[in-house]
Amino acid sequence: MVNRTQPLPTQPLKQLADSAHTERCTGLLEAIEEDSATLLDLANQSVVSARQFDRNKLTQLCRLAAKYENSPAPVQRPLTGKILISAFYEPSTRTRLSFESAWHRLGGDIMSITDPATTGIAKGESYRDIAEMLSGYGDVVVLRDSNGTAIYEMMKSLRIPIINAGNGTDEHPTQALADMYTIFKWRPALLQTRVAEQDRIRIGIIGVPGEMRTVRSLLLFLSLVPQAIEEVVVICNSDDVFSPGQREELEERGLRLRVTADMEAELPSLDVVYINAIVWSGGGYQEHGSEYRLSKDSPLKKDAIILHPLARGEELSTDLDETTHNWYFAQARGAVFIRMALLTCYVWLF
Ligand code: CP
Repeated sequence: MVNRTQPLPTQPLKQLADSAHTERCTGLLEAIEEDSATLLDLANQSVVSARQFDRNKLTQLCRLAAKYENSPAPVQRPLTGKILISAFYEPSTRTRLSFESAWHRLGGDIMSITDPATTGIAKGESYRDIAEMLSGYGDVVVLRDSNGTAIYEMMKSLRIPIINAGNGTDEHPTQALADMYTIFKWRPALLQTRVAEQDRIRIGIIGVPGEMRTVRSLLLFLSLVPQAIEEVVVICNSDDVFSPGQREELEERGLRLRVTADMEAELPSLDVVYINAIVWSGGGYQEHGSEYRLSKDSPLKKDAIILHPLARGEELSTDLDETTHNWYFAQARGAVFIRMALLTCYVWLF
């Protein structure tokens, strides 16, 4: 029964892309010299880890994404006749729909699996066999699975590229690409080879790098631009936040890391605040670090931006939505364009 006391819409719909973000895309485009040949390396590649990207590829993908965001309905539809198998064996809003939106915008067709119980997995079919079938039915697979090793099992028999859309607690490389794209749209100067000391940024990550796939991949991408980052502060109420070797690898790549439990003390000096409160723990999702909450009353730096890659819980108050700190909606929207950029690389494969 419809509740007739609910207000009927009287306001025009908000524009999909506001002019401020169009200007941001133009700024990013102007800051990067085109070198799309560097993306040819991605043509035959499955994407499993953020480690597969170097700074040049990241930069050129962001450039192409900004181009798409400035004109989201490309005249050419290069994926016409190509089929994406969108296999999500775990719930998703942002990743599945932005991948599918990206593929549609490039002209391709999609077969979507949103529940493993509707596939042979329910009857005990192996990942290797499923991959054999998928190779015959589509051109690219995007896989989300809470089983961290599923993607590797599939790759043993898969004959088409596969993109990791989140594998257990391991990685989520394309989410981190979307995060980096957002940061570079905000400050294109961070892509310069030399960033003056006073222009380097401090990034706070509220989350657990050793247990959260989004954080793990983001840290690897951040370690591609250490010249732009004064410090990454991991905010967590545990001392044991890294997986074995993780911190050492990031520090070897040039990232300066510090761990603290005191968010309130850090917020006034952070330029980017990235908050992730959901962790996959084998049997399901659980909230992590529920004592950390951001709201309009948090002592945020005036120009700080907030990124939030997952479904919102109580950690992020809706009273921030109408503030200039809200870059999380731009982050979610930009995911379509960075994924269009990545998927464009597959066109060179066909
Ligand atoms: N970013 C992300 O993984 O969100 P979803 O779970 O909604 O896909």
